[in-house]
Amino acid sequence: VDLTAARERARALDDADPIGFARDRFVVPDGLVYLDGNSLGAMPRAVPDVVQDVVARQWGDDLIASWNTNGWWSAPARVGRALARLVGAAEDEVLVADSTSVNLFKLMAAALRLKPERRVILSERSNFPTDLYIAEGLIELTGSRHELRLVDGAEIADAIDGDTALVSLTHVNYRTGAMHDMADVTARAHRAGALILWDLAHSAGAVPVDLNGCGADFAVGCGYKYLNGGPGAPAFLFAAHRHHAGLLPVLSGWMGHAAPFAFEPGYRPADGLERMLAGTPAVIGLTALEAGVDLMLEGDGAALRSKSLALGRLFVELMEQKCSRHGFRLASPTDESSRGSQICFAHEHGYPIMRALIARGVIGDFRAPDILRFGFAPLYVRHADIWHAVDHLSAVMDSGEWDRPEFHARASVT
Ligand SMILES: Cc1ncc(COP(=O)(O)O)c(C=O)c1O
Repeated sequence: VDLTAARERARALDDADPIGFARDRFVVPDGLVYLDGNSLGAMPRAVPDVVQDVVARQWGDDLIASWNTNGWWSAPARVGRALARLVGAAEDEVLVADSTSVNLFKLMAAALRLKPERRVILSERSNFPTDLYIAEGLIELTGSRHELRLVDGAEIADAIDGDTALVSLTHVNYRTGAMHDMADVTARAHRAGALILWDLAHSAGAVPVDLNGCGADFAVGCGYKYLNGGPGAPAFLFAAHRHHAGLLPVLSGWMGHAAPFAFEPGYRPADGLERMLAGTPAVIGLTALEAGVDLMLEGDGAALRSKSLALGRLFVELMEQKCSRHGFRLASPTDESSRGSQICFAHEHGYPIMRALIARGVIGDFRAPDILRFGFAPLYVRHADIWHAVDHLSAVMDSGEWDRPEFHARASVT
C-alpha cells in the first residue's frame, strides 16, 4: 500500500478545498487532530472579541440599557433567523433558547396537546437517551395517559399507526452516524395522521437539512456541536408556521407572554413562535453562538456536504489499508448517502484505544459499549488530519500501546 501517495492525495484535496479558507477562522491548537466537533465544536476565532464586547462594553458600560440598545431582547429570534437558513426553515420558525432537553420537553408537550385523541410517542430504541428520558418524564407528569413505544430504527416507518400522536427521532444517530430519510419518515408519519419531531443535534451544520421541504412539524438541536457555539451554548427549536397559533406552551413563562412588560397576572401566549420562550436568555452564550452560526453561513451547504463525505470516504479507505488486521468493524452505514458527518468503528478494546489515540493528540470519543467515534466538522477538519488520525491509530495498534494500564482507567466524561 502506497501511503505516501495517500498523504500527497490528502494534501492535494486540501489545496483544492473550496471551503478550506474556513480552517483559519477557528482556533485549533497546532499538532492537534480534532475529530470531536460532533461533541464540542472548535472555537471560532471571532469569539473572544465578541464575548469581550458583550461583557466589558455591553454589560460593563451599558448595563440594563443593553436589552434594547445592544439587541439582547431580540437575540433569541435574531440568532434563530440566521439558524433557520441552515435547516430549511422560514425566518420566524426558529428560536434559540434553553437546552436541547428543555426544548424537547416544550415541543413534545405542545405536540401531545395538538393530538389529544392519540396516546403513543413513537421513538427509536437507540435514540439519544435524553430524547427518551424527557418523553418518560412528560408521560409521568400527564398521569401516564401516554405510552413511549420504542422500536429499532429500521422498523420506525412500519410502527407508525393510528394511535401515534408523535414520532420523535434524532435525524443522525449520535452513536453510529446513521441518518434517517427525513422526507420519507415525515411523509409516513403524516399519512398516519401523526406529528413528527426531529432532533437535529448531529445534523445542523453537518448535513443539509430541509425542514420545510420535508414538511416537518417540529425540531430541536444543539448549539455547541457543529454550530460551534461553545460549551453549554443555547439550543434551538423549530415549529412549522401552521402550528404556531395552536401551540399551547406548558412552560408558559413571562417571555412567551403576548405582552411581557404589561406584567398581567394571567398568561396569554405571544402571537408567533415567541410563545415558546420561557425565560431570560443566556446572553453571553448566545453571543458566542451567533458568531458560530454566522461563520457556518459563510460555507456553501453543498460544499460542506461533499467535503464531509470525502473526509469520511478517505477515513474508511485508510482504515482498510492500515488497520484491517486489528479487528475494527465499521459501525456506520456503508452507504454514504445515509450517514451524517461522522464515522464510527466498533472494537472490543475501544475505550483504551481511544485514550491512547487522544494521548497522541488525535481527539475522537468513545461511546459505550464499544464505539470509537470520529466526527468530521467540514469547516475545519482537513483531509491531512484524516491521514494523521489513521497513521496514529495504526501505530497505537501495531505497538500494543493501547494496552498500557493508564489507558484503561475510565474518566468521568468519555
Ligand atoms: C441527539 C442529541 N440530543 C440532545 C443532546 C443533548 O441535549 P442537551 O443540550 O440538553 O444536553 C445530545 C448531546 O449529545 C444529542 O446527541
